[in-house]
Amino acid sequence: MKTKTYVVTGATSGIGAALVRRLAAENVVFAGYRNEKKLTLLETENVFPFYIDYAKPETIAPAVRFINSKCTKVDTLVNIAGCVVAGPVERINVQEIRRQFDVNVFGHLEFTQGLLEILEGGKIINVSSMASYGIFPFISPYCASKRALDMFFNSLLIENKKDIKVVSIKPGVIATPLWGKSVEENSKYIDNCVGYEDEMRFLISNAQKNESKGLSADKVVDVILKADSAKKPKLSYNVGGDAIFAGLISKLPQPIINRLIKTGLNLRIKKLK
Ligand SMILES: NC(=O)c1ccc[n+]([C@@H]2O[C@H](COP(=O)([O-])OP(=O)(O)OC[C@H]3O[C@@H](n4cnc5c(N)ncnc54)[C@H](OP(=O)(O)O)[C@@H]3O)[C@@H](O)[C@H]2O)c1
Repeated sequence: MKTKTYVVTGATSGIGAALVRRLAAENVVFAGYRNEKKLTLLETENVFPFYIDYAKPETIAPAVRFINSKCTKVDTLVNIAGCVVAGPVERINVQEIRRQFDVNVFGHLEFTQGLLEILEGGKIINVSSMASYGIFPFISPYCASKRALDMFFNSLLIENKKDIKVVSIKPGVIATPLWGKSVEENSKYIDNCVGYEDEMRFLISNAQKNESKGLSADKVVDVILKADSAKKPKLSYNVGGDAIFAGLISKLPQPIINRLIKTGLNLRIKKLK
């Protein structure tokens, strides 16, 4: 296999960490981290860590400068970093929704813009989500951010004159720490959520189930590597039966989707009681 140069964000956990492990055996990998305590995870041959925290946009330009100073060509940029803002729309502070978009959308856009010159002829692979299909209540900031990510990068694909291919990977439920973090980081909206107690109990139990019963991160890595090695990659790859199902449901008329979601949610809440 020819040695390639990759840039991967969200490299210290879940899907990103699994991808870095697979790539580093034969390639050069620039790996983004936001937590210094996790730096030891990236102490491997061929891996060059860089600090980036999308919740602190001022950290993006130095990361871009670092990568541009170390190489003249990136074969593939894999945008993986992400978080979940959850809760009922009527309660979530708009600042939190801004943070969701900073981390899941604007950060990736600014970072990517800074690397476009050295990405000429290469690929951008975004880890979006089945949430981009937009059918999941109580995680609407997350769904909206993933849809926005897909829209911006699809436009980049259409517009760019640098022959850069863009791919959206849409995993279903994957067993990673994302789910535990989603409960922990949103506890102020989820705990004691007056009027939505049953729904929030369901949200927590669903997150716990997902963290143990989802597909392995390596399944997503397999699809990322497949898209990366394809001469003509598809625009979008679902990972898992649930993602395929979500894609199909999203093609129905919105009133039918809403009815299905409400009925399904009520049934699952009843089961919890
Ligand atoms: N797990 C799923 O079921 C699932 C399904 C569909 C899509 N996805 C997407 O897959 C991607 C990876 O998630 P995962 O499941 O592997 O979860 P994860 O284990 O929590 O990994 C998320 C990664 O993003 C990093 N990150 C979080 N906030 C950041 C910020 N402000 N700036 C920079 N980096 C930040 C995390 O850093 P730390 O290591 O410091 O926490 C971590 O490395 C995400 O975009 C997620 O939306 C996940």
